Amino acid sequence: MRLTDEEKAMLDGRDGPGVQKAMDLLMRYGHALDAERLVETNNVCSILTASMPFQRKYALRTQSMDAVFSEFTLDSSEAVPIPKFKAFTSHLQLGMDPAQGERMALPEEAIAFYRRSEAHVSGLGAQMMNTCTPYQLGNVPTRGEHCAWMESSAVVYCNSVLGARTNTEGRESSGAAAITGRIPYWGFHIPENRRGTHLFELDAEPESVEDWGLLGYFIGELVQERVPVLHSPRGLRRSPNLARLKHFGAAASSSGGVEMYHIVGVTPEATTLEEAFGGNRPVEVIRYGAAERRATYERINATGEERQVQYVMLGCPHYTLEQIWEAASLLEGRRVHDDCTLWIFTPRAIKSLADQSGATKKIEDAGGVLMSDTCSAVAKVVPKGTRSVALDSVKQAHYLPAQMGVKAWFGSTEQCIDAACTGRWNGSLQ
Ligand code: F3S
Repeated sequence: MRLTDEEKAMLDGRDGPGVQKAMDLLMRYGHALDAERLVETNNVCSILTASMPFQRKYALRTQSMDAVFSEFTLDSSEAVPIPKFKAFTSHLQLGMDPAQGERMALPEEAIAFYRRSEAHVSGLGAQMMNTCTPYQLGNVPTRGEHCAWMESSAVVYCNSVLGARTNTEGRESSGAAAITGRIPYWGFHIPENRRGTHLFELDAEPESVEDWGLLGYFIGELVQERVPVLHSPRGLRRSPNLARLKHFGAAASSSGGVEMYHIVGVTPEATTLEEAFGGNRPVEVIRYGAAERRATYERINATGEERQVQYVMLGCPHYTLEQIWEAASLLEGRRVHDDCTLWIFTPRAIKSLADQSGATKKIEDAGGVLMSDTCSAVAKVVPKGTRSVALDSVKQAHYLPAQMGVKAWFGSTEQCIDAACTGRWNGSLQ
């Protein structure tokens, strides 16, 4: 790999062993990817805190959070002092909501260790956003900006909606990027790789959040890791908002590995169909209409069996303030059924806005809980006794049954709130 003088100096140890280890890791990673060089980044989204039992054990043995960071982020069994981060770094979701220890059945020592780890990485410069949707909290990179983000649903939003550039990084590469301000230049950093490959002609216009989730799931299954272009022959009547694009991308990156898409007339690198393909010829043209929509809905609901639901989970990806307000409004005058639990997940900062606006109280008065920092799939926690769950997220419906051995129903937010209040799934495709 070609290195600048500055990068060579970092690799040679000028800035200390932490930076040197991080550069060494990026070099190994870049070689494996055939990257010719590194690129500067000042926008990293990563998971750097330690909360797993094996990390706790390691910390107990070594008595050093730097040793934990060296081992689990920098791939170095030699403990080195970790320097302050060079790049602006946002922390993504956690494996727990430390404010909900009892509900999530978290041992006290797990919370105490997490808090130690949070103090360590925030001391290094991490912004504790604790969400899979950093773009909701002001981390909005501009078009063309090089980033190093983890979390598939955030990556696809960053590339497609914001026009910034990132691959789906891991804990190690994004941690090394935080320390060095560098990441290998490959994949979606390179303009040619961002061009469309598959054309999707939309016969039916997606309207609701549910619709956009279904469409994303359909597309991800077909294109896997390539770049779909969505085109409506008559033009979209209504531009999808943040929540719709969030659900669309999350679904496409779950059923496939979509990291970038274009919607003609909506996303920034697709003002026209020609621009979206950038001279490529579509390898396939696929139609999406009522039949495809129904078949996708049925596939996602394939595990749904028992109509009684014990758990309703909303907020995957983490809910926007508007979605919280919508859920709170739907709960007005109603009560969560005694045999059902309603958990809604959002970033910590948005929860505090919802607290101030009164939405949290409305949800709590109805018997629901607004939680933050994590979700059921990542924390691997569902309320005790859950057999059947209702979800308004295709992504969560894709992962939760496999991870937690539950059956899942997928539908609209309204249908999910109704299930929470009746303890029964009555949803159907609308
Ligand atoms: Fe976020 Fe959990 Fe979904 S981390 S994208 S809410 S699986």
